[in-house]
Amino acid sequence: MIRTILTYPNPELKKKSAPVTIITDSVRELVRDMAESMYAAPGVGLAAPQLGIHQRVIIIDISGKNEPPDLIVAINPTIIHAEGEAYEEEGCLSVLDYAANVKRYARVIVKALDLEGAERTWNAEDLLAIAFQHEIDHLDGILFVDHLSTLKRELFQRKARKAAEERR
Ligand code: NI
Repeated sequence: MIRTILTYPNPELKKKSAPVTIITDSVRELVRDMAESMYAAPGVGLAAPQLGIHQRVIIIDISGKNEPPDLIVAINPTIIHAEGEAYEEEGCLSVLDYAANVKRYARVIVKALDLEGAERTWNAEDLLAIAFQHEIDHLDGILFVDHLSTLKRELFQRKARKAAEERR
């Protein structure tokens, strides 16, 4: 089922998500819905809190094929190693009509559970490394715009307020 993706400044996006304790049918259903919602958007990553579900679940697919074979599902993901520097333009399905360069690590090692509850490790670099950092941030209530300089963030907030007024 395609679910509504919450957008800035919805306060649900600022909340911290809780670890998944057991992988139940409802978690599997959540992942299916997340995948459908992400591919429909379309986007390259999605975190459960973007659907208003505060559980530590993220999905990523940077293949550009928009179908499941290349889907990464990471439950309770943690970055266990990070190095290097990246500075690439990012957008977010929860931040409409805005993109900006964000400083990230260039390479990360991520540990997580897959949908079967097995421990997985990803050695990620470039776009995949950035996607992991962006999606894991969502689990802690952080959006990419929170990484911008004060000046840039204020410009973004002004633009977002104006756009919200225009939609009203
Ligand atoms: Ni995002």
